[in-house]
Amino acid sequence: MPKTTIQCENVWKIFGKFPRNIWEILENSHGKEKEILLQYGCTLGIQDISFSIQEGEIFAIMGLSGSGKSTLLRCINRLAEITIGKIFIENQEISSMTPKAIKDLRQKKISMVFQHFALLPHRTVLENAAFGLEIQKVDKNKRHEMAREMLDMVGLKDCEQSYPEELSGGMQQRVGLARALLSHSDIILMDEPFSALDPIIREQMCDEFLKIVAHLKKTIVFITHDMGEALKVADRIAVMKDGKILQIATPEEIILHPNDIFIEKFVQSAFSVLKILPASMQRLFADSAKKSLSEK
Ligand SMILES: Nc1ncnc2c1ncn2[C@@H]1O[C@H](COP(=O)(O)OP(=O)(O)O)[C@@H](O)[C@H]1O
Ligand SMILES: [Mg+2]
Repeated sequence: MPKTTIQCENVWKIFGKFPRNIWEILENSHGKEKEILLQYGCTLGIQDISFSIQEGEIFAIMGLSGSGKSTLLRCINRLAEITIGKIFIENQEISSMTPKAIKDLRQKKISMVFQHFALLPHRTVLENAAFGLEIQKVDKNKRHEMAREMLDMVGLKDCEQSYPEELSGGMQQRVGLARALLSHSDIILMDEPFSALDPIIREQMCDEFLKIVAHLKKTIVFITHDMGEALKVADRIAVMKDGKILQIATPEEIILHPNDIFIEKFVQSAFSVLKILPASMQRLFADSAKKSLSEK
């Protein structure tokens, strides 16, 4: 029986003053949400989000910029307080946890990888990679041994004594990835981890990431604005638009049975980068996909 690791039940996040009151007004707004939000100077981050993620699953959250992906991720580790709804991490409801329990959760259970690598500038690559283990109080020899192994896996064997500023963006992100994969946390939240990288490096990183996590039993929430990346990495994908989830399905289902024209366009543009067409035609294809998106 698969175990549920992360569960969201009707989660809303509204930014602004008195978000709960605004939520109540929105509930009876009969299609006038935008006017109400404008009137009260509030922003809807996410609305009515529900899903369960199983242990060991790679769950991608895909959507355009501003669709609420980061807000959702920040709610999951309580960097943002939710307005309404419930989030459970391994059956524990997080909004009722004490600050100490939350701190423990972030140190022991959940690690994060951001788009910008957040490495410690005055520590070597080895120390950066081992940092999660250091927080988890793993002894120095052991953590350095584990970090060396992981650095080898992400292709940074010869850089362990370098400092972050001596590395390219792609290499720095590899260190960030090594750090997250190394820590003992069962859950990894990744917010567009590869988007700052050049396309070829990005593809390589994606492949290496998949190879490494295939051996680890981690539950991964992987945010991306790139449908191609989502299709490649995920066991299931949640597609978001305007703070809502449009569809949650496996990559195959998303490709074969997208439940919305918006998703269909994403899938088309993901395939147009498969390089089966000459560059000029790829551009045409991408332009028409973009055009129909902007007309929506
Ligand atoms: N701290 C904040 N205060 C006010 N509005 C915010 C804040 N964070 C995000 N938002 C708004 O919430 C919506 C979703 O943003 P975000 O979760 O960052 O989207 P994504 O990660 O998909 O680009 C956007 O309209 C954004 O402007
Ligand atoms: Mg974001």
